[in-house]
Formats: sequence, C-alpha cells, structure tokens
Amino acid sequence: MDAKQIFVQSLYECMDGNLKKERLYSLIEKPKQAKMGDLAFPCFELARNYRKNPQEIATQIVEEINSIYFERVEAVGAYVNVFLNKALFTKKILQQISKEKTNFGYSNLGEEKVITIDLSSPNIAKPFSMGHLRSTVIGNAIANIAEKVGYKTVRINHLGDWGTQFGKLMVAYQKWGNEDQVRANPIKELLQLYIRFHEEAEVDTKLNDIGRKWFKRLEDGDAQAEELWGWFREESLKDFSRIYELLGISFDSYNGEAFYNDKMDRVVHELQQKGLLIESEGAKVVTLEEENLPPCLIQKRDGTTLYATRDLAAAIYRYETYHFAKSLYVVGNEQTLHFTQLSYVLQKMGYNWAKNMKHISFGMMLKEGKKMSTRKGKLVLLEEVLQEAIQLANNNIMEKNPLLEKKEEVARQVGVGAVIFHDLKNDRHNDVEFSLEDMLRFEGETGPYIQYTHARMNSLLKKGGYRETNNVSVVDINEAWPIITRLMALQDTVMKAYNASDPSKIAKYLIELAREFNKYYANVRILGDEENKQARLQLVYSVKTVLKEGLRLLGIQAPDAM
Ligand code: ARG
Repeated sequence: MDAKQIFVQSLYECMDGNLKKERLYSLIEKPKQAKMGDLAFPCFELARNYRKNPQEIATQIVEEINSIYFERVEAVGAYVNVFLNKALFTKKILQQISKEKTNFGYSNLGEEKVITIDLSSPNIAKPFSMGHLRSTVIGNAIANIAEKVGYKTVRINHLGDWGTQFGKLMVAYQKWGNEDQVRANPIKELLQLYIRFHEEAEVDTKLNDIGRKWFKRLEDGDAQAEELWGWFREESLKDFSRIYELLGISFDSYNGEAFYNDKMDRVVHELQQKGLLIESEGAKVVTLEEENLPPCLIQKRDGTTLYATRDLAAAIYRYETYHFAKSLYVVGNEQTLHFTQLSYVLQKMGYNWAKNMKHISFGMMLKEGKKMSTRKGKLVLLEEVLQEAIQLANNNIMEKNPLLEKKEEVARQVGVGAVIFHDLKNDRHNDVEFSLEDMLRFEGETGPYIQYTHARMNSLLKKGGYRETNNVSVVDINEAWPIITRLMALQDTVMKAYNASDPSKIAKYLIELAREFNKYYANVRILGDEENKQARLQLVYSVKTVLKEGLRLLGIQAPDAM
C-alpha cells in the first residue's frame, strides 16, 4: 500500500502510458509545504513529449484523474498536486502493520541474490581501531538493509592476519616477549612488542631483514613460524570477539588474508599467463598507465606477496564461492586507491564481475577535530570506550529508574546503541566527532532518544491494555496524519538507503518518526477516553513496531523499558 505507487498508476492510466511507470515514480515529489498536498507530479517532461505547455497538461490530468484514494487533485502551475484520502490510507497502513509486523517495509528487489559484504576486518595483534568500529557498524547496517530489500548477504571479516608485520612480531616476541604477559593481555603486549621492534630497527637495520625472513618462513609453511602466528591470531581473536559480543554483531566468515595463502600462486600464474605481470626493480607489478594510476604491486623481490595479491585472490574466491551479484568493501577513505586498482586489475584479467565490486568508503572518527590514532600514547581502546558508554547509561538508569528490571542488559543496549547511532546518523563520507556526552543525550538526534520514545510507547500500550486487532478504526485524522505519512514512507526510505548504501537515511527517518509521535503525544490524550483508546493505541503500536524495526536495521536493540 504505497501512495506513490497508487499515484503512478492513476497518472499512467490518464496519459496512455507515455512515460514508463518507473520514470513516473522517480519524478514524483513531495510538495514544499504540507498544505499544498501530499504528493506532486511535475508535468515538464510530458509537456515536451506532447509538445504542449506544462500547465495545460497539468489541468488535463486533473480533469481525468479519478480515484477513491485521493481527497482532492489540483493543478498548480506545471504541477499536479494530490491530497490523499487520509482516512483510507490511515486505515490501510495500520492494518498492514498489524498484519506484517516487523516484516513491514520489506521488498523483494534483490530476488534473493547474494551480496558479499567485507566489513570490520581488523588487524591481528593490533588494537581494534575507531576505523574498524566504523566499518563494523556501517557494514552491519548495510547488510541488514540489503536483507530488507530481498538480498541474501554474506558478512565477511577479512582479518588482517598475514603480511610482513607478522615476521617482525615473531622476531620481537622471541627477543623480548613473555608468554604469560601476552596471554594475560594479548593486544596490549603484542602492540608493545611491535612498537619496540620499530624503535630498535631504527638503530639495528638488520632487524628488518630478519623480520622479512620470518614472514617468508611463514609463507613457506615453516612449523615454528606457523605455531607462533596461530597463537597470536587466536589470542587476538579472543579480544575481538568480546567487542563483537558487546556490539551484538556476528559474521558468516572469518576468512582473512591468511586464508588466501595457498590461493595466490594461481593469481600470480594467471596474471603471468595473461601477459599482465611486469618486472620492476626485481618485484612484479601490474601497470595501470591507461587508467592513470600507479602500478599495483603483486610480488616482492623475495617472492612474498602483498595486501593487493591477497585481495585479488579473495575477490576471485568470493565470486567462485558465492556467485555474488554485488561485492561490497566497507573500508575507510584512505584505501580508495587500493580498491580502484583492485577492480581494474581484475577487469584486465577478463573478470567482468569486477564491475560489481564497490568500495563503501567512510570518513574518520575525530576527537576535538583530530584523528583518533591507535599509535603511541594516543591509544584509544575501543572496548574501554564501549564500557564507558555502558557505564554512563547505567548511571542514568540508576538516577531515573532505579527499580528497572534487567538493568545491566538495558544499560548495554543503550550505551552501545548510542555509540552506533552516533556513527550512523550522518552521511558516512563525513568525519565524525566523537563525544560520549552527545551520544548519550535523551533529547535531540540520539539513539537513546529513539529507544526512550520506543520504551515509552511500550508502557503506554501496557497501561492502556492494548489488544492486538486487525479491525482498526481511525481517530484524530489530522493530528495523526504526519505520523501516517512517515509510516507510509518506510519502504521507500529503506530502498533509498539501500541504493545509496547509506544507513543515515534510516537514522534520519527514525528521528522524524519519533519527533512526529512525540508531538502527537503532547497534543492528544491517548488514554483519555475509553471510546477511542484502542484506536489510538493501534497507532502507538504501529509506530513502536516501526521504530523497533528501524533500530534493528541499524544494528541497535530497543529495550521495552528504560
Ligand atoms: N585489515 C585492513 C585494515 O585494517 C582492512 C581490510 C579491508 N578488506 C579488504 N578486503 N582489504 O586496513
């Protein structure tokens, strides 16, 4: 039950199909002011096709259009403005939500085709950075949204668990490491060892060569190297999984860079065969001169591989394993060149599907305008940040609602929800200023604001004794109308969020919906009179259902009380 679809159908019928339905759909606008109507259709394109003036076309359409769904249709200049039949739409949408529940807003655009989503992908033996948090949260929301429009998704955590740095780490551990300390505090200790390696290597340059040799041993399958590497990986993953648990996010695959170790020979061989590999100072590269890009490095002089080699192998593996319709990489802006090169090299290899790979880039997390770095003193441990958010949420509960049940669980949902919402509410390309106080406010554009609105509705439903029903009646038509139009817009909003890979569209939608509801709540006494109570609660139930589902799409839970 989509008002835009209905308008399209009516327009289509009164102009003999001169424009395709998809085209009509995309031309429909929302009038600048609500008093001008609910939807507007500009007649310029039709006027060109019919060689008439647009005002004339608009008048003609108004004369012909005829539907029970419209209260009024008007020609205003070159526009056809329609006023929807509020009672009819209200009734239909409330019925639809009560029937479809969380399925409301679903569409089958994706026809169950597969999208692989490369997300999170932190580097082993290093702290989980803010950039990785952004990737995790944005990637997970995009995956949820893709599912809502009918795609199957595969969430892949492409762990950074291979490369020269592991050779260096092995050397550092053997020289200065302590097993118990690493076990007790893996990420912190391994990072210290890595930093020490670089400090000492500045004086003793031989260290770098030894590090490279150890990585070579690892790539060649040396048992001692493999054992150490396996241990570093395992310990790091334990740390990471605590973060994923807090965030409530899981993956379909943890195949990281190391997984492709035995799949790279094939890539190098294939590149050679296709005449794409060129020797350059002893290394092997693919040149990208026509594309105006620097060459893509495939193999180093000592025969070891690189990040790009592993990504080539991974892309091919993903295509062969999942037959993806699309393959997304949710990775920061700074890797744009890498992903552009990747796609071109694959296309040169004759893989047409490489055109369906897309880098979903995003801006940085800033603190007081500066990059939040994981290097040296400025280390910001993500887990500590999340724990702090949870602690603040907990303080809030103790202050406002000390008798709340399951306090700890709710504090986690609110604290983590606040961090996620803050990340997702702006266009992902922008940098984000990190501020716990801003995130956790109960007013304004925050996760807790929406969660709180949701919880309040839940208590209204309880208090009012809401009974689920399909037999809805309509009250307060004019007061409820702004809410109804938002509810009707869910499916369209989800599609737009999907098309632009932009979860902020959902976040903004939720803020608007919550605001409209709170306005209504301030004006209408929902539990005021018995006669209309159930009808009003039906509206509350619908908004609550949509808010909860919208939060779910963003990866945020909605507690029933808080
Ligand atoms: N581990 C990389 C980093 O932290 C991100 C990996 C992104 N995914 C990929 N397929 N390259 O920078």
